[in-house]
Amino acid sequence: MKNTVIVIFGASGDLTARKLVPAFFNNFRKGRLPANTNIVGIARSPFTDDSFREKMREGMQQFASKDFNAEKWRQFAPALFYQPGDMTKPEAYLGLEEKIASIAPEGGNRLYYLSTAPEFYATGATLLGESGMSQESENTGFRRIIIEKPFGRDLASAMELNRTVHRSFREHQVYRIDHYLGKETVQNILVFRFANAIFEPLWNRNYIDHVQITVSETVGVGHRAGYYDKAGVLRDMFQNHILQLLTLIAMEPPHKYEADALRNKKVEVLSALRPIGEKEVAEYTVRAQYEGYMHEPGVEQFSATPTYAALKLFVDNWRWQGVPFYLRSGKFLPDKTSEITIQFRQPPQQLFHFNGEHDGSFTNRLSICVQPHEGFHLLFTTKVPDKGMQVQPVDMDFHYQESFGEGAIPEAYERLLLDALNGDASLFTRSDEIELAWKLVDCIHAGWASKFAPPMASYKPNTWGPKAAEVLLARDDKHWVHGCGSQKE
Ligand code: BG6
Repeated sequence: MKNTVIVIFGASGDLTARKLVPAFFNNFRKGRLPANTNIVGIARSPFTDDSFREKMREGMQQFASKDFNAEKWRQFAPALFYQPGDMTKPEAYLGLEEKIASIAPEGGNRLYYLSTAPEFYATGATLLGESGMSQESENTGFRRIIIEKPFGRDLASAMELNRTVHRSFREHQVYRIDHYLGKETVQNILVFRFANAIFEPLWNRNYIDHVQITVSETVGVGHRAGYYDKAGVLRDMFQNHILQLLTLIAMEPPHKYEADALRNKKVEVLSALRPIGEKEVAEYTVRAQYEGYMHEPGVEQFSATPTYAALKLFVDNWRWQGVPFYLRSGKFLPDKTSEITIQFRQPPQQLFHFNGEHDGSFTNRLSICVQPHEGFHLLFTTKVPDKGMQVQPVDMDFHYQESFGEGAIPEAYERLLLDALNGDASLFTRSDEIELAWKLVDCIHAGWASKFAPPMASYKPNTWGPKAAEVLLARDDKHWVHGCGSQKE
């Protein structure tokens, strides 16, 4: 078997110690890392191989202690190496080549991981190309590159970055990561929809009233204000994670489970998203900032960056015509939860009386709990015993933890890194997906910069965002729901 060398650019950063090395370690521990795999970290900090190994071990113990195993670490650590270097300088690539040659003199596969600040993605890809390090062949082995988010900050910059990357790497070599796609429960959306026969016939405008996606966080911007204040919630959460969730809910079945078949179907959904024009932006979007945001260290004094947004979107195709998709996400909300609600239509006629507080407007609801209570809830009506024909909703649920045991859910990066090593790009975003997602985000940002913009609302930390977000749904006679056992609205 060929050697594989994984090169992590930006290896002294948080992500490497917190997520990447733990994910490689777990794959090693589970016997899934290909034999003869070595990892070289590169960054400007002056680590040696040994001090880098030590830093990674501390990271493991700090961020992934439940997975740490001293004996396994002793076996894994010799595969970690470090090469100091400034990735903006061509010399760094010569040094890297030498380092790799000393580790794997017979050559082999290479997986480059750009885990740097986004402004270095283009330089990294370009210099890898110019130094000949992106050239792959049967003999030398594959050359792949994983690029972290954010991929661009708008459509123009994403297109430019795609062009730059494509000068050095062909699309099949490029793996744009969105860690949401590595989450078990997100992959399970595909299984739930396409490995069961009973839901798909209902999965359309005839039976579904609307869809909600909530991704809420309890934390504020913390130490990331420098990045976040320039990005805001649409770039940080919607362009990538939330639109990816939407595509998986709305896509047509692919003819096989294979990267391009899958991504073609996702692209169809993104292409069918109805753009929001300037004049509609106040009707379809809400933006807000949590109180005190402007006093966070690193935030500009009069920052107009939203930390919360709610959107009403439509997918203009045969399946979804007229079905609103309500999406919301924000920092400093009362619960950390990512969940998707499929709200079904009411039965055509209400024959029975609802018991107690439940009124006759009850409809079936499916909640897909992405995190933290990974699983599903299905709400349906049942007869209350010994009370004539009174009925009430009951909740049927499935939780990963109960069915598969504690700790059954791995970290998203484990799966994604393994897929990249195995050449499976199904759970990575293709250039056209990225660009279409930016197109939507750009039109909302343009609306927010125009005279038609909705006011920037504010909300108190630990509340569910601004009143305007409730109004967005109330106008359609609907309300936000939590179906995953988290805090009620
Ligand atoms: C990241 C965002 O992509 O996703 C963060 O940049 C956010 O702001 C994080 O906190 C949320 O990820 P998760 O997996 O905790 O839902």
